[in-house]
Amino acid sequence: LEAMKISIVEDKTLPKAEKIKVKSVTDSIGKRVKLQGWIHRLRSQKGLVFVVLRDGTGFVQIVFSGDLANAYQTSTLTVESTISVYGVVEKLPEGKSAPGGVELVADFYEIVGLAPSGKDSFTNQIAEDTDPSILLDQRHLALRGEVLSSVMKVRAALLGAVRRVYIEEGVCEVTPPCMVQTQVEGGSTLFKLDYYGQEAYLTQSSQLYLETCLPALGDVYCIQESFRAEKSHTRRHLSEYTHIEAELCFITFEDLLSHIETVITKTVQYVLEDPVAGPLVKKLNPDFEAPKSPFKRMAYVDALEWLNEHGIPNEDGEAFKFGDDIAEAAERKMTDTIGVPILLTRFPVEIKSFYMKKCADDPRVTESVDVLMPTVGEITGGSMRLEGVDELVAGLRREGIDEKEYYWFIDQRKYGTSPHGGYGLGTERILAWLCQRFTVRDCSLYPRFTGRCKP
Ligand code: 4AD
Repeated sequence: LEAMKISIVEDKTLPKAEKIKVKSVTDSIGKRVKLQGWIHRLRSQKGLVFVVLRDGTGFVQIVFSGDLANAYQTSTLTVESTISVYGVVEKLPEGKSAPGGVELVADFYEIVGLAPSGKDSFTNQIAEDTDPSILLDQRHLALRGEVLSSVMKVRAALLGAVRRVYIEEGVCEVTPPCMVQTQVEGGSTLFKLDYYGQEAYLTQSSQLYLETCLPALGDVYCIQESFRAEKSHTRRHLSEYTHIEAELCFITFEDLLSHIETVITKTVQYVLEDPVAGPLVKKLNPDFEAPKSPFKRMAYVDALEWLNEHGIPNEDGEAFKFGDDIAEAAERKMTDTIGVPILLTRFPVEIKSFYMKKCADDPRVTESVDVLMPTVGEITGGSMRLEGVDELVAGLRREGIDEKEYYWFIDQRKYGTSPHGGYGLGTERILAWLCQRFTVRDCSLYPRFTGRCKP
């Protein structure tokens, strides 16, 4: 009853509060400020109410005392309610801890939006032990959690860092279409769509389009969604993922390998140097060690030997032989045991894509590379490309592809061919490695995989 009588009013004689974001509270010690955000945590203790406020830029502790703590309005607060709060930023006394080592001593606040209490309360929607599929149904709420929001911030920094590296390397950004009528990585994973009565697909890779840009723009890259109707339900496969792809002309296979190393090492370096993302990576993955160039190189045939020596069987449970695919489980066992990034090269023609160039010293294998990282395995796949019209057409026919639809791609060879090569990096896979996530699903805003297309 006493609480009912206490209403909260602003003392107009106080200094005017400057509206700031949580990330800059530590620059405002001693000043009166206004913060707006979501109640991340809430507890009361000895007549005080402690709120941890979140605004997307960080977390800060707020203390309500006296009338603010005792007012009826305060007793209605719930986790995830939004408030505007006014007060002075103070350094925390010795022995106390809160984000940034500061707290906001509130003198006034207003409720912007109350979140439900009781059975509809936020904590009931996404409890820690909630079934993963329920958490995925509640992805829009789960994203507010510390881990997922941290991964998304690292993701933003990673995309910024990779663009910065491409600018430094003189590679030009382009935006190829997502709706296409050609395949790149095999017909079995194509998503088909009805395009005004014609058959079209969601792109599996922008590689072919990048190749066509070389004569116009020189080295090019794109950051574009790729789509795969993957039948495999694994922790590293999505149906839609953000594909970072580049294509470089007048290079050798060796140039391609060292360029890939540069892109990966510099991108990671810039993420770690980022004032927001660097500390988040440290928190999510305390033992992370930035990779150094040159990476360990290993030819496919040497990998087979390594696997056989270590008693790791192929998919049929037998010893590996030339021509076998190194499937996910074996690849991961090998990478985890070796424990460092590996450039796995020279895969056989028959297990790789139609466009890959054969090695001059051994036509059974291609100038191809997979980058393998401990804990996730393959994060990048690339190769040098066939340069001649005839061999490209033969490659397409081998795949059962009608070359007519590919006239524009073949013209890249017809009108001034060049030695060239490129690669694709899976954004969610690099993130899973960087942020130590068990699955790439944690690294996509709203993951799409077999059976899931919402929210
Ligand atoms: O090895 P992939 O299939 O290669 C290509 O698409 C080439 N055309 C790229 C190029 O040369 N421009 O895919 C490249 C990378 C993989 O190493 C992996 O990181 C990622 O894309 N990737 C996937 N990520 C998540 N879910 C999936 N279903 C993925 N499939 C490939």
